[in-house]
Amino acid sequence: MLQVSVKKGKEKRIRGFHPWVYKNDILSFSRKPKPGELCTVRDYRGAFLAKGYINPDSYIAIRLLTFKKEEEIDLEFFKRRIKEALDYRRAVVPENCTAFRLIHSEADYLPGLIVDYYSGYLVIQVTTLGMEILKEQVAKALVEVVKPKGIYEKSTVQTRELEGLPLVEQPLYGDIPERVVILENGIKFNVQIVGGQKTGYFLDQRENKLLFATEFVKEGDRVLDAFCHLGGFGIHAAVIGKAGEVVAVDSSQLALDLARENAALNGVEEKFTFVKGDAFKVLKEMSLWGEKFDSIVIDPPAFAKSKKVLEQAKKGYKELFLRGLKMLKPGGNIVVCSCSHHVTPPILEEILLSAAYDTRTPLKVLYTTYQAKDHPFVLQIPESRYLKCIFAKSFPWEI
Ligand SMILES: C[S@@+](CC[C@H](N)C(=O)[O-])C[C@H]1O[C@@H](n2cnc3c(N)ncnc32)[C@H](O)[C@@H]1O
Repeated sequence: MLQVSVKKGKEKRIRGFHPWVYKNDILSFSRKPKPGELCTVRDYRGAFLAKGYINPDSYIAIRLLTFKKEEEIDLEFFKRRIKEALDYRRAVVPENCTAFRLIHSEADYLPGLIVDYYSGYLVIQVTTLGMEILKEQVAKALVEVVKPKGIYEKSTVQTRELEGLPLVEQPLYGDIPERVVILENGIKFNVQIVGGQKTGYFLDQRENKLLFATEFVKEGDRVLDAFCHLGGFGIHAAVIGKAGEVVAVDSSQLALDLARENAALNGVEEKFTFVKGDAFKVLKEMSLWGEKFDSIVIDPPAFAKSKKVLEQAKKGYKELFLRGLKMLKPGGNIVVCSCSHHVTPPILEEILLSAAYDTRTPLKVLYTTYQAKDHPFVLQIPESRYLKCIFAKSFPWEI
């Protein structure tokens, strides 16, 4: 196996279980590395540190798989890692949920691999060349450990192109239905596996949807679900929170069609108004018409995909939060979310504060939450904390 040594001082982070070796940390190679191949990482004196796979042209040159010298990266290794990940999900995902993230890349020390479980089917995403080379072994291990009815690959993230990989969507094993019904907090959702967004559903908001419905929405409330996708927050509000009316906005017709079906599947379709359009425009128009809501959730896609566009992204979030706060009734509740890791919790708070000043909305913050427990973030990688939601209530003052 290729041997890679790191510069003096760079071993400390690896000994602390950070799963990346940066290109600039590398001191030498035992031979010319082949992109994607497995390698052993050593300190500058030659002592063993870890094993991983290498892409020598990437900024993150090595992604680590194990810190155990005797552990081989083979089928048994993947079976052990997957079993560990499955046991963890069984412990943290409630029984009334039949869909969850099984493998969350670095957070399961399987960098470059995402696996979501949807009622017996698996949807996988491979994001790096090293994991692409190991994919067959991974799929075999998934079949042996999870015993799924089918595995569908949806490796459509743009970052694959940086690794020289094409975007692919294909069945890998068994039968794959286009859609599958899942239970989330006991609520039914029809999820589009083939052709839908991401792996089909935003599983990372499971706990936030429940918190919103149980603690924020009151019986009879008028709710705004902005960027609703398959109706997750709104349907939780209608079913669990007993909201009286939900306005759900999204720009994707496919998402709205499914959201409508999902509302019907749970017997709450008569409470819903679906609005197709750009939420920036729709929320502006609604606030100009004088629409008011008791509870609002704003869960946009990641605006800040890189640090370069952070300032621009902040303006986008602020505009949405301003519109939302203008439509919030005194004493109403608002949840604002960002799934961009560049927007840190203090930055999100700063944007909400600025919108609260501009709209003269007194707000108390009850919770700042993150992605659900099956998408844990690794302390050693701050970037892995990508989703943040602020749950705030306005004071009931009419001014
Ligand atoms: C992060 S997802 C929302 C997830 C959803 N709230 C949930 O918990 O399941 C973002 C959604 O925004 C939609 N979207 C993207 N750009 C939009 C825009 N400009 N206006 C309205 N919707 C948009 C996408 O179609 C997607 O459904």
